[in-house]
Amino acid sequence: MELLKHKIMQEGIVLDGGVLKVDTFLNHQVDAELMLAIGKAFAELFRESGVTKIMTIESSGIAPAVLTALQLGVPMVFGRKRKSLTLRDDLYTEKVYSFTKQEESEVTISRKFLAPKDRVLIIDDFLAHGEAALGMARIVRQAGAEVAGIGIVIEKSFQTGRGKLLEQGFRVESLARIASLEGGKVEFV
Ligand code: G4P
Repeated sequence: MELLKHKIMQEGIVLDGGVLKVDTFLNHQVDAELMLAIGKAFAELFRESGVTKIMTIESSGIAPAVLTALQLGVPMVFGRKRKSLTLRDDLYTEKVYSFTKQEESEVTISRKFLAPKDRVLIIDDFLAHGEAALGMARIVRQAGAEVAGIGIVIEKSFQTGRGKLLEQGFRVESLARIASLEGGKVEFV
């Protein structure tokens, strides 16, 4: 997606440890026009996949996920990492380890928002080691539902995530694929 690549080149900042900072449009401040374009791009890719629900994990996945949901005309549900006051019983729960942040979080989704008939499109802002997407896929399986595909805004193709997801047979569509962040320079696949 050229618009997204352009934005990454203009505003992305490469940090140590192969991390790309994109807080001007995705991870902190959010560019709504760009999110709409991202939603349209995912909708086009997955329109024929029989998607009934979009799923992501808070917080940065929510913006692209909700715009995709709007385009496909289906609801969006996000996994919570913090315990909610009102979300108590009847939960699907999976532990997700973040290699980038070196912390484990427990992701929960209420059972009432996933049913066996659902075909779920998983959306996330970054694909690095794939743990977040795999955790979401495990929750979808717990519900007896099916993963229709995985849509990623920015994939770091030099890390292990894509391979792990393909190994499990998932369709992975990334709007920007980064081959390298070596020397502080962004190179696309
Ligand atoms: P995964 O997302 O593929 O599972 O990989 P990993 O466990 O390494 O990454 C976990 C968290 O780190 C995710 O955020 C992910 O978005 C973020 N992350 C990974 N690489 C980068 C990067 O290069 N740049 C930025 N900005 N973030 C990166 P999260 O824990 O879900 O938190 P949130 O930001 O969505 O709240």
